[in-house]
Amino acid sequence: MARPLIIVNLKAYAEGTGEKATRIAAAAEEVGKESGVVIGVAPAYTDLGLMARDYDVPVYAQHIDGVMPGAHTGHVTAEQVRGAGAMGTLINHSERRLTLAEIEASLSAARRCGLEAVICTNNVATTAAAAALGPEYVAIEPPELIGTGVSVSKADPGIIENSVEAVRGVNPEVKVLTGAGISTGECVRIALDLGTDGVLLASGVVKAADPAAALRDLVSLL
Ligand code: G3P
Repeated sequence: MARPLIIVNLKAYAEGTGEKATRIAAAAEEVGKESGVVIGVAPAYTDLGLMARDYDVPVYAQHIDGVMPGAHTGHVTAEQVRGAGAMGTLINHSERRLTLAEIEASLSAARRCGLEAVICTNNVATTAAAAALGPEYVAIEPPELIGTGVSVSKADPGIIENSVEAVRGVNPEVKVLTGAGISTGECVRIALDLGTDGVLLASGVVKAADPAAALRDLVSLL
């Protein structure tokens, strides 16, 4: 298997904004180098350029709009995040849901700019539908577990197994991440053993008193 991917979504957490975001990027860079695991960050747009410039970590946007550059107030284009240094983007995060047509448009925009696309999903059926669009990754996250500290790996391993199987049936080229409540190396190990290629998480690192220690724990069983 290729090296697993861990993406830390900083959301709009105060603990993951501005100077505090740079602390998390520094931790991701440090632990990524020590462990050989790819640890990316998905910061707010306001921090994205700085993070991409100052840290040797893959930077993802949290969302892009499926529009061309032009007269779109309050939108963010694939060109803008690419220009600011992002190498990929989340699409359809549970906290930034899109219609199917919008997901497709955002994915096309990502393709246009060479951004790696991670389409987030909430159940096995939407995971299969997302895989049919052919992004690099789908990320299955049961919404009811997000931010709870109750890990999807332990609370709902079936959704991970069934999602992996569904994706393989639709498009085996698409890689699978999982997330929601992931906070320990054991959660990550279980997710990988169930067939995923990595994890997408937030609070377990962003709200940790010591983000580097939290990341070291996450990679400890890989
Ligand atoms: O994008 C990651 C996310 O929605 C999971 O959040 O806090 O449960 O790790 P959390």
